Amino acid sequence: MRSYKKSEAYLERAERVIPLGSQTFSKSRTQYPHGVSPYFITHGQGSRVWDLDGNEYIDFVNSLASVTLGYNDPDVTAAVEAQLKQGVIFSLPHPIETEVAELICDMVPCAEMVRFGKNGSDATAGAIRLARAYTGRDHVAVCGYHGWQDWYIGTTARHRGVPKAVRDLSHTFAYNDLASLQAVFDQHAGAVAAVILEPMNVAQPQPGFLEGVRDLAHRHGALLVFDETITGFRFANGGAQEFFGVTPDLATFGKGLANGYPVSAIAGRRDVMKLMEEIFFSFTFGGETLSLAAAKATLTKLRTDPIIATLQRLGVDLRTRLAELITRHRLSHVATVSGHPSWTFLNLREAPGVSVFDVKTLLMQEMLARGVLTLGSHNLSYAHSDADIDALLGAYDETLALLARALSEDRLREQLRGKPLEPLFRVR
Ligand SMILES: Cc1ncc(COP(=O)(O)O)c(C=O)c1O
Repeated sequence: MRSYKKSEAYLERAERVIPLGSQTFSKSRTQYPHGVSPYFITHGQGSRVWDLDGNEYIDFVNSLASVTLGYNDPDVTAAVEAQLKQGVIFSLPHPIETEVAELICDMVPCAEMVRFGKNGSDATAGAIRLARAYTGRDHVAVCGYHGWQDWYIGTTARHRGVPKAVRDLSHTFAYNDLASLQAVFDQHAGAVAAVILEPMNVAQPQPGFLEGVRDLAHRHGALLVFDETITGFRFANGGAQEFFGVTPDLATFGKGLANGYPVSAIAGRRDVMKLMEEIFFSFTFGGETLSLAAAKATLTKLRTDPIIATLQRLGVDLRTRLAELITRHRLSHVATVSGHPSWTFLNLREAPGVSVFDVKTLLMQEMLARGVLTLGSHNLSYAHSDADIDALLGAYDETLALLARALSEDRLREQLRGKPLEPLFRVR
């Protein structure tokens, strides 16, 4: 049996000085059932990470999908080490900013000009400000998750601290539901600056949906922004816009850009991007060179190595075999698989007498005990091997068998060795 004692003790120490003990909500204790989970990771290599107690895991979270090549990728590490000797940040821009912008323009269909940020939220907030400036309008339509800033998080259940005046300007619409977007345009006629959406997350776009969103946005004089924070450099070298063949006016990138180094980007149409010169999108570390060196190495490797093809192949195998396991264990009423091969989801539902959080807690408890780190999605990296996928499915086979037995015997809660997860703030 794995021990998580050091993690648990350290969490107590961390929480004395850090609210929630984490800088990122999705890495915090809210997501990991207490008693059966690690709370801190000390290092990673390839597809593996090690927690504070020394337990090893195959990581399918991959730092919330930002590690796309694998931990400590040799090419990225060499590029960062070389840049480190030259310096991290200077008093004028460094040429590497232009080099990475050129690479993005070469790879991404909508990209004619590029600006960099640090987190995905910098890029999405910048894109929205730019769209507001370009159109002279205030309202935005949103679909999916777009980060921590007021303009977006005000639309969610976690809107404490966001002024009502700001919340009143952002409106959610539902994925694969053009009528819900049309309703936003009807209610705010002539006032919508941008439609921003994740081109895909859990569900596949229905035929014509993304084209329909683009056409509706343009018909109403709004800009289309694809939030490709996750899909960028993951679905295809040119992101979901290349994969689905729908080109937005602007797109934002983050996680997949630099194999986990902190850099994000806004890219898009030249006439819109030029207006960046008139708005204010500026911060001290925007041109930080280590992350840009990591980005250059990552983008270059994406063009020379079969990264996208490998993620695709592994993911199709994973998705097919996991669906077969669910059927074999007769669990189709509580579990389904969906998503793009590089970013698949095991979607859970409640069952008679047990909440979805109970089901998820049991699953996490058993998968973690078998050395698999997952929050319910499989964020593949190029470092994952066929053996890693076999190990994941082996762990699922045993765990789903246990889940099926616990459900049929009505004993699921008895199987929980730790504290069940509490209802979580969800964005997708
Ligand atoms: C689609 C999407 N947009 C925006 C963000 C925000 O990025 P960050 O957390 O880097 O600010 C995320 C982060 O998970 C995301 O998945």
